[in-house]
Amino acid sequence: MHAPTLAPSLLAGDHANLAASARLVSGLGIGWLHCDIMDGHFVPNLSFGPETLAALRRDGVKLFFDTHLMLSEPQRYIEPFARAGADQISIHIEPEYDHAAALARIRELGCKCGLVLNPGTPASAIEPYLAQVDLILVMTVQPGFGGQSFRSDMLPKIRQINQWRNERRLDFRLEVDGGIDLATGAECHAAGADTFVMGTSFFRAPNHAQFVADFARFA
Ligand code: DX5
Ligand code: ZN
Repeated sequence: MHAPTLAPSLLAGDHANLAASARLVSGLGIGWLHCDIMDGHFVPNLSFGPETLAALRRDGVKLFFDTHLMLSEPQRYIEPFARAGADQISIHIEPEYDHAAALARIRELGCKCGLVLNPGTPASAIEPYLAQVDLILVMTVQPGFGGQSFRSDMLPKIRQINQWRNERRLDFRLEVDGGIDLATGAECHAAGADTFVMGTSFFRAPNHAQFVADFARFA
């Protein structure tokens, strides 16, 4: 079992000063930073690339970089992100490539590996890989943009993956991403999720310290 973990999404941070957004997170005692990487092809938006992660590392940011690649050809970018300082690299199941080889490559480069499914992708698509991952990420919105509404129809999928995890005595994390706030996060927690990406709800919170205290209570 994993202690409930908050992973603020840098996508909702200040893009003119991402280092300040990262320091806000670490200053609150949070360990994780979710880094959304978009290619304008797999998703209809662009964000930032490996150089941004490297620059944050040079700036002294020590957070665990939970790197979410929303790319049509993620296998081409594993090495650049590993070298830039990613601690974990998560890749989507939907594009065609050798998923098992890509997951193995991520680990070979010293990172943890995750597999991600879009709302329209059934849990059965990732089921064969459960023993080979450190994390499964269930998208609770169609990826591409922050600030969308949580899809409660993803809860059965979270329950199913949690059930497989228990039955097989596996210990991967179960992460949710998209429209997560303290209320929707609690619903996902009850369904078995332990790792919570929060973009808008975290960065727009009026009082960040209060937000972290409230998260600790629901968790
Ligand atoms: C969505 C990204 C998310 C995004 C979540 O495409 O994968 O990580 O930052 O943002 P919120 O929490 O605002 O839905
Ligand atoms: Zn994400």
